[in-house]
Amino acid sequence: MIKTDISGVLPFLPGAGPDSELEKKLEAAHKRLEAGGEFTGWLHLPSRAGAAELKRLQDAAAKIREDSDVLLVIGIGGSYLGAKAATDLLAPGFDKPKPELIYAGNGLSGARASRLLDYLKDKDFSINVISKSGTTTEPAVAFRIFKGLLEEKYGAAAAGRVYATTDAERGALLRLSSELGCERFVIPPDVGGRYSVLTPVGLLPIAAAGVDINALLKGAAEAEAALSVGGMDNPAWLYAAARQALYDGGRGRKIELLGLWEPEFRFLGEWWKQLFGESEGKEGKGIFPASLELTADLHSLGQYVQEGERLLFETFLWAEPASALRVPFDPRDADGLNYLAGMSIDRVNRTALEATKEAHMSGGVPVIELSMGELNAESLGALLYFFEMSCALSAYASGVDPFDQPGVEAYKRNMFRLLGKPGF
Ligand code: PA5
Repeated sequence: MIKTDISGVLPFLPGAGPDSELEKKLEAAHKRLEAGGEFTGWLHLPSRAGAAELKRLQDAAAKIREDSDVLLVIGIGGSYLGAKAATDLLAPGFDKPKPELIYAGNGLSGARASRLLDYLKDKDFSINVISKSGTTTEPAVAFRIFKGLLEEKYGAAAAGRVYATTDAERGALLRLSSELGCERFVIPPDVGGRYSVLTPVGLLPIAAAGVDINALLKGAAEAEAALSVGGMDNPAWLYAAARQALYDGGRGRKIELLGLWEPEFRFLGEWWKQLFGESEGKEGKGIFPASLELTADLHSLGQYVQEGERLLFETFLWAEPASALRVPFDPRDADGLNYLAGMSIDRVNRTALEATKEAHMSGGVPVIELSMGELNAESLGALLYFFEMSCALSAYASGVDPFDQPGVEAYKRNMFRLLGKPGF
């Protein structure tokens, strides 16, 4: 299970840690989640995953792996970040795997779409188009473009290469996929976009990348059981409490930097930013979530973290190293590195974490540490669930609804008006 260490926060809090007021708020938040209101379907998703649905997902993934060089995953926000995070972490490598997963429809760059069209022309590919609302502009535009190429290449057989993941009852994508007659997967109505990674939204692309989705769900189900218990021994409670104690109702630390110590964690950071940013940032409140790729960003943002405005706290996420690579011995030692010879690179990385924690704390930055054990499908499943739970608890404790995102509509309304969409 994930471990939360708040020893790097305690020197910055009055008293001995998060106070009893905060504990009461978390207790109320947890009860509210368990009561099962709107959009709390993610809470018991891992333990209630249906065998028939999993089999259908695995069969679709097997077909994609067999007949496609590329799986084009079209979606934005919660409809792609979780899958991208998981596939970067669990199916990494410099060689292009088969199928190669390419993510599209997460922006409106014509230049990128043109390059991708050229790239796909001589590839066998399939499309997984994902949108809960079924009406989001970015993925809808991308789907129209790439479905066109698919139909050009495969004619009537194109529908057999489209997998649509959307709401069971509403939306243009539902209508479109019925017309097309393609295979369809459902996003449960009580699960919101940013909490949907463990539904077909994430599970189909993750399975197509060759990751064991049963293991991912097993890890998440273990976290579901472990984190259902109230109290500060619950690492999700402790993380939520430390964040809210530091934020101090908006009087304290307003920016959280998620420090990631492996480059493949970059999109886990992007997924985490959406989860926390969209869930907490409303009604003039909320901790601003940002992420650091370490040690790289110590050479760019490190100066600010050490000596800039004291608005920040950091959360370091650590996975146990998996590589045995060591610094080689060089008899000439022209670079003076022989003092490290024989030491694993991961040991140097861990030492960098300890050195950074000490430096940043002495510069006035509190540091929370999260340890997830070895990185694998099970521990990633547990981590995803841990963050979902911590986020929902933290948002409720700060008095906002973790499951809406009214602010996202403002730019859309303006864009539709400027583009002349009927009705705007
Ligand atoms: O969390 C959310 O609900 C949103 O950020 C969505 O994930 C995002 O806007 C994509 O929406 P949709 O899946 O409806 O296309």
